[in-house]
Amino acid sequence: MHIRRLSHFHQRIHLHVLNMFILLAAAVVVERAAGTCRNYCNSIPINYPFGIDDGCGSPEFRHMLNCSSTDLFFATPSGNYKVQSIDYDKKNLVIFDPAMSTCSILQPHHDFVLSDIQSALIPPSSDTVFVLMNCSIDSPVLNHYKSLCFNFAGHTCDELYGACTSFKLFHLLSNSTPPPCCFTGYGTVKFMSMNILDCTHYTSVYNTDNLKGVGPLDWLYGIKLSYGVPDTGCERCTKSGGTCGFDVETQALLCICSAAVNATRECGAGSVSSSAGQKPWQTTSSFLLTCILDYSVSVFGYSRQSFVTQFQRD
Ligand SMILES: *[C@@H]1O[C@H](CO)[C@@H](O)[C@H](O)[C@H]1NC(C)=O
Ligand SMILES: *[C@@H]1O[C@H](CO)[C@@H](O)[C@H](O)[C@H]1NC(C)=O
Ligand SMILES: *[C@@H]1O[C@H](CO)[C@@H](O)[C@H](O)[C@H]1NC(C)=O
Repeated sequence: MHIRRLSHFHQRIHLHVLNMFILLAAAVVVERAAGTCRNYCNSIPINYPFGIDDGCGSPEFRHMLNCSSTDLFFATPSGNYKVQSIDYDKKNLVIFDPAMSTCSILQPHHDFVLSDIQSALIPPSSDTVFVLMNCSIDSPVLNHYKSLCFNFAGHTCDELYGACTSFKLFHLLSNSTPPPCCFTGYGTVKFMSMNILDCTHYTSVYNTDNLKGVGPLDWLYGIKLSYGVPDTGCERCTKSGGTCGFDVETQALLCICSAAVNATRECGAGSVSSSAGQKPWQTTSSFLLTCILDYSVSVFGYSRQSFVTQFQRD
């Protein structure tokens, strides 16, 4: 009798503890799902100054990255370009324009346009070369702006038109001399559209510093963008365990410590947490926590009482 009563009492306690865990887990899931900044987009790490959730990263780089279920995109006025890699040590990012011609595919021209902010903060690197192809003899880069074309490690148009299956067409279609091309920097395509340049196709090649004697089949096609990191004290926030972000309304810098706490500079003691503008999910999780507290108080209150009663009975 005695033993049976006690074990029944234990079962009750176990059940209550289990219920509490379920509630607690639910609260944690709710906080996680909506609270913090994602630091990966598929396999690409997302760190400062970038962010894929609004309010994360540096405000200057806001809305530049877009993470879909399969790819990370760099959004520009001329389209969304697939991000191939981000090198946080060298501070660069390689993007690929799927509408661009390469050694293996010929596609009609398409301007590459960055916003003014992007041109200033994250322009193509100096070792990214734009190759303008099939230019008309009236093209400004063959006349007045000839100086914008440079000698690219001894490479010629003929070599490109000869080595690449896609560019062979330019040569085949011209009766005698292949149409001119121009190796140039981002500045040229920034200030002149392909229509003004009067060239029908372009491609771009990155990591061009060591391409002397390397054929076009082995070049890396894409655009490398190089960026600077704003010096805003993000390191202090990161060291304290936070993630750098900003207030989406005022753009003021924030150190995001947890789903419920934002500090101005760093997490931990002395941090100023902001509870203004609580989101519905925050209210939900606070509500759940309150429930758990009330619940456990009542459970333990009840158990203690029944425990005492049982002792008194025995
Ligand atoms: C903390 O900042 C992030 C990013 O701006 C925001 O989404 C979140 O709601 C803020 N949390 C609090 C408690 O203010
Ligand atoms: C993100 O990129 C995809 C793919 O190009 C595009 O369809 C979508 O509209 C973009 N979203 C935003 C918010 O830019
Ligand atoms: C090369 O440019 C000329 C006009 O200058 C155009 O008629 C021709 O179609 C272009 N070649 C290719 C392969 O697009």
